[in-house]
Amino acid sequence: MHLNPEQEQVASHVHGRILTLAGPGSGKTKTLTERTGRLVRHGVNAANILCLTFTNKARDEMRDRLIVQYGENAKKVAISNFHGLCGIILRKFGDRLGYTDALTVCDSDDQVDLIMQVARKRGLEPTKPQARLLSFSINDWRENLGDDDSFHAMAGEKIRDGELGVMRAYIEALRRRNQCDFSGMLSETVRLLREHDDVREKLQKRFQFIQVDEFQDTNRAQHEIVELICGKEDNVLAVGDGDQSIYEWRGASPDGIDRFINNGRKKTGKCRIVKLGVNYRSTPQIIEVADRLIKHSTNRIAVEFSTVHKPGEPVKLVKFEKPEAEAEAVAMDIEKLVRRENVPAKEIAVFYRQNDMSRLIEQSLAKRQLPYQVVGSGSYYDRMEVKDVLSMLRFVCNPKDGISFARIANKPARGMGDALIGRLETFAEKYNVDLLHAMRDDVLPTIRDEHDKPLSDAAIRACKETREIFDAPRYHRNVADLVNALLDRTKYDTWLKERYEEKGEYEARSRNVNELANAIGEFARTNPRATVAEYLQSISLYTDGDEQGDGNAVRLMSLHASKGLEFDVVYIIGVEHGILPHDKAVKDRADRGLEEERRLCYVGFTRARKLLRVAWCQSRQDVFSRDRTARFLPTLPSQFLYESGLMSAEDYGAAKDKRAEGLRQLLKGSAKKSKKRPVRK
Ligand SMILES: Nc1ncnc2c1ncn2[C@@H]1O[C@H](COP(=O)(O)OP(=O)(O)OP(=O)(O)O)[C@@H](O)[C@H]1O
Ligand SMILES: [Mg+2]
Repeated sequence: MHLNPEQEQVASHVHGRILTLAGPGSGKTKTLTERTGRLVRHGVNAANILCLTFTNKARDEMRDRLIVQYGENAKKVAISNFHGLCGIILRKFGDRLGYTDALTVCDSDDQVDLIMQVARKRGLEPTKPQARLLSFSINDWRENLGDDDSFHAMAGEKIRDGELGVMRAYIEALRRRNQCDFSGMLSETVRLLREHDDVREKLQKRFQFIQVDEFQDTNRAQHEIVELICGKEDNVLAVGDGDQSIYEWRGASPDGIDRFINNGRKKTGKCRIVKLGVNYRSTPQIIEVADRLIKHSTNRIAVEFSTVHKPGEPVKLVKFEKPEAEAEAVAMDIEKLVRRENVPAKEIAVFYRQNDMSRLIEQSLAKRQLPYQVVGSGSYYDRMEVKDVLSMLRFVCNPKDGISFARIANKPARGMGDALIGRLETFAEKYNVDLLHAMRDDVLPTIRDEHDKPLSDAAIRACKETREIFDAPRYHRNVADLVNALLDRTKYDTWLKERYEEKGEYEARSRNVNELANAIGEFARTNPRATVAEYLQSISLYTDGDEQGDGNAVRLMSLHASKGLEFDVVYIIGVEHGILPHDKAVKDRADRGLEEERRLCYVGFTRARKLLRVAWCQSRQDVFSRDRTARFLPTLPSQFLYESGLMSAEDYGAAKDKRAEGLRQLLKGSAKKSKKRPVRK
């Protein structure tokens, strides 16, 4: 495969800052990979190159491609996502900030639990949604590298004074527990690099060539990490596409690209910019539809690009009565492609706006015995039993992690009630010891409750038993041994059986645990020297686009998860007003939300190589809509269908009229009803 002249300029660029802005399928990722390989071939030490990708999947693909093209030496290139890089940096140098190498990552559920725990200690009783809102504010503040002033400015805006105290106490609790949440990993790395010259210089020496993919979706803290590591030489390549920016709602900073250019100019006086103008992915028909849609974006630098492919099939828009019919038709279509036209199943993808929209498609595919795989709904790692086993490992790795401890201390029941756990926690915190220390034989008798009463004999026995389970396994050979020992000692499987057999859930849950144990075994085989912390780090970073295995199966995923990927055939279902654009996105962020939803649709369209099929339903009487009346109204097709030219102005207008008429009828009906209702005096 030959690079075109613009791609060639990027791939052969060696020193200085360079930015590549280009549309989907123009070979940004490919060129970035190619440049990495060439640097190695031209004598740059592979270990001095750092590639930052967005998902673990992208990382694995890049690594495979490099090894195939440039051999084993390319293995030494550091390829990671930002959180992975921060984990490594914090474990290695975090002692400067008071962390140890056993630092664990607190996921977003743990984050909410810890916020609630901290709030309760301060006499507040937040609900889970309130705690979640606070977690968003914390993340926002940290990802935007907020300072003390901006912290206090939050009070009065959306946060009350008491909550500000909770936020601060939460951040302190994390530090004390040797933990970081996702936003903290980024902001703590920035703090480390800013405050400790020696660490920064070491990293600058190590990573002399930096490359960042999907730059449009990075946040302020991530930009700063790049700036801090790239040093005087400023050898950094960023590739991105503003039209595909879909993570503003999660803190990605839209001015990042301008800042990147300006920082380069400030530092060395230059920043080379190269545009790529050829789309190598899709047929002209697909490009035309996508292009028409994105032209409705405001504030956009228009990019013109051509395609190398011959005309293919037109993009198809299909209307269905309801979602069940949509799912059936899509599955039938897929069956035809796979069984009659020999399209490999893994070259077919179905995208939707919300993860819960996969259910009907799954049913229809399963009915036809078509292999499928739901990608990145995060559901596997969200399962109770999987979280339990991981919590065991987390606690062994970091016995200050009270959230993990509370999760597994009493599974199966061994007398470790909430009150006792709370008492141990308070003690551990007061004397700055870990929970295993608090459960030592010589320490337990010294623990008192708020009325100065010692622990009961039963409580002491329960603590001893718990300590024995979680203390000894520290000396196991590797994480696979450890997990087996823990499962053995806790008799977790027996507990699952007792609790879930009657409900008919035991087998599936037990299988999940085995699957996890097998995956850990595999990890230990390929990373024989990895510590438990490293294993936990590797799985804590699974993001939307990641998946398990890569069998020949139809891929089902959210539009967000489809970023950076490509398939021969793409279906996008449920393209209706309220779903895409999504109600909540528009409600929360008005025009900005709508703009981002349009870009999300554009990302979806541009994943397809040969066939793109888009569907919407005239009614969707299900739970998606919170507005109960809307469930009984004809749906409105998405405005994006009209904007992209897939739906004519007349059809769109007719659908709108139909909906307005439905609404009128509904109102008339409810007016009649209320008239009939007897008036109570
Ligand atoms: N010069 C080329 N000749 C032939 N094929 C190419 C060339 N450049 C890129 N391609 C192919 O085009 C497809 C898209 O490339 P790539 O994924 O790198 O695009 P991208 O710009 O990163 O897209 P996205 O914005 O969606 O991430 C890939 O299949 C790639 O192999
Ligand atoms: Mg790409």
